[in-house]
Formats: sequence, structure tokens, C-alpha cells
Amino acid sequence: MLIDSYERVVDYLRVSVTERCNFRCQYCMPEKPFSWVPKENLLSFEDLFEFMKIAIDEGVKKIRITGGEPLLREDLDKFIKMISDYAPDIDLAMTSNAFLLKETAQKLKDAGLKRINVSIDSLKPEIAQKIAQKDVLKKVLEGVEEALKIGLKVKVNMVPMKGMNADEIIDVLEYSKERGMTVRFIEYMENQYASKEISGMKSPELLALLREHYEFEDEGFDGASPSHYYRMKDGYRFGVIEPYADDFCKKCNRIRLTAEGNLIPCLYFDESMSIAESIRKGDIKAAAEVLREVVRTKPEKNRWCEDEGEVSSRAFYETGG
Ligand code: 5AD
Ligand code: SF4
Repeated sequence: MLIDSYERVVDYLRVSVTERCNFRCQYCMPEKPFSWVPKENLLSFEDLFEFMKIAIDEGVKKIRITGGEPLLREDLDKFIKMISDYAPDIDLAMTSNAFLLKETAQKLKDAGLKRINVSIDSLKPEIAQKIAQKDVLKKVLEGVEEALKIGLKVKVNMVPMKGMNADEIIDVLEYSKERGMTVRFIEYMENQYASKEISGMKSPELLALLREHYEFEDEGFDGASPSHYYRMKDGYRFGVIEPYADDFCKKCNRIRLTAEGNLIPCLYFDESMSIAESIRKGDIKAAAEVLREVVRTKPEKNRWCEDEGEVSSRAFYETGG
């Protein structure tokens, strides 16, 4: 089992397969990064899989494939099949912007993918376009409908921003609710790559707005999930992800691997250790040691919750949030 120095069990690995993306979301990478990681620096699926086997053997129970946009990487379904064949009981999920989901959903499900989180920041084509800097809404919604149709479990992520999409919180909740999808509102996390114009909405304001429309009860955290859940009278649950709240990191169970093989112990900080060399050499022992060291050095808390006004210098697009 992987246990950090604050007694937290680390059993959740997020694996980015590419930092590239076909969107340019305002809160993530509004300007194309100056240069992408050269393709030859990416770990092959075989190498990523080698590391995942070590992580699974050390106690990882949940794996999420992320990007950038993971569906930009060719043959992703084959990668998913490698993982699910090795560990059929693993909770295997993906986070995607859903733009390419309509044509890939069935293949992904057949390969063993169980769940998918998609971003729906707006249901208005022009606002969705303003946020992603591309005309995306139609294809995203088609992707979501297809995923639901074939029986993938879908969760919706929305980042409410004042003067942008904050007036659509109820609409996105209703859209999700009608389709049996949990929606999670994510507080905008300040980072140095995001557009400077964004004014994020913090959870108290968001909840006050929701209370004008619904009655709901606070259910607290669900296991190690970063999301605080609320239950409406009819049983529907929605979540709020509050990285600025003091208790956000208390049950953190996750580490992140970039497509280049850097293992990152915390969402906020850009410190990392590489497993690339040891994996490429086939040195399982050395890679496992890096994994344990990264878990050992996992910080207690991010810094948004210490002091408002803190801005992360980490590039979120390397690991999909
Ligand atoms: N703040 C909040 N959420 C973010 N995401 C990406 N960048 C940020 C940020 N700066 C979320 C998106 C997407 C997921 C990959 O991460 O909502 O759903
Ligand atoms: Fe791409 Fe996701 Fe970043 Fe948007 S948030 S630019 S979809 S990686």
C-alpha cells in the first residue's frame, strides 16, 4: 500500500497521455503553449502501462486517463484494453472534452472504460465558443448523448466564471439531471497560464445562487472524492469542488503522471520526479522507488487554501486539471 507522510492512502493515479488539446479553454491554455513536448519524449503506451502495472501492484485501485485531450492520442482504446485486461476490477475512467467522443465512445467502452467526465461549461453555442475558443458545443453534446446511449457513466464538470457562464449554472444542472448525470461545479483554480480576465466563482456564492432555486442538504465528502456533495429533495446529487477550502486536501488520495513520465505529487505544485528513464531501461525496482518517494513527498495542502490570491505555476494542461 502507498501511504504518504500524513497517513493518507494513495490509491488513485491520473495518467495524462498527451498535453495537446483541440480546445483552448480560457482557464487552462488560452494561448497555445510556446512549444509542445516533442512526440519522441512521450512515453509509449507500453511504457506507460509498465508503470501502471507497478502502481497497481503497489495498491492503486483507480486510474483516470487525462490529457490535454486524451482522445487526440491514437489507439487510446488499445491502451485502455491493456489496462483493463491486466486489472479488470480497476476503476478505470477518463476525463475528456467530448469533442471526439461520438465516434470513439463505443470502442472505448468495448475496451473496458467504465466512466467518463466531460466538461460542459455552457449550453449556449456562442459562450461555449468563447470559453473553448472554438465552435465546440454541437459536437460535445453529440458526444455526451452517444456515451449515455451506449451505457457509459458520465459526469459533467462546469467551471463557473462571472460575466461568462455563471448565469447558466441552473441550466447545466438541469441538463445533467434530466440525463441522470452528476454535475460538479469546479471553483476556478488560479494558475499562471489562464486568461487574466477570468473571475471565478467561489463555492459560497455558487451555493447561494443554487439555494434560490432548490432545497438541498449537505452530504459532505464522498470517500476520498475531492467533491463536496449536496442532495436535493428528489434525491439528485450535485457536487462542488472547492480547492480553496481548508479541508480540500485532507483526504487526497491521488498522484498524477504526465505523458513524459513525470510523477507529480500535488495538483498545485509543479515539483515532480521522472520515471521515464527507469521505465525505458526496464528497471522496475527503480521506478517503484520513485513512486514511493513521490508519495512520501506529497505535500499536506495546496496553497490556494492557505492564502487567497495564490496562483499556481503548474501547467494544468499537462495533466488535465
Ligand atoms: N480551474 C478549474 N478547473 C479546471 N479544469 C482545467 N483547468 C481548470 C482550472 N484552472 C477542469 C476542467 C475540466 C477538467 C479537465 O479540469 O473543467 O473539466
Ligand atoms: Fe483542453 Fe481540457 Fe484544457 Fe480545455 S480544459 S484546453 S479541453 S485540456
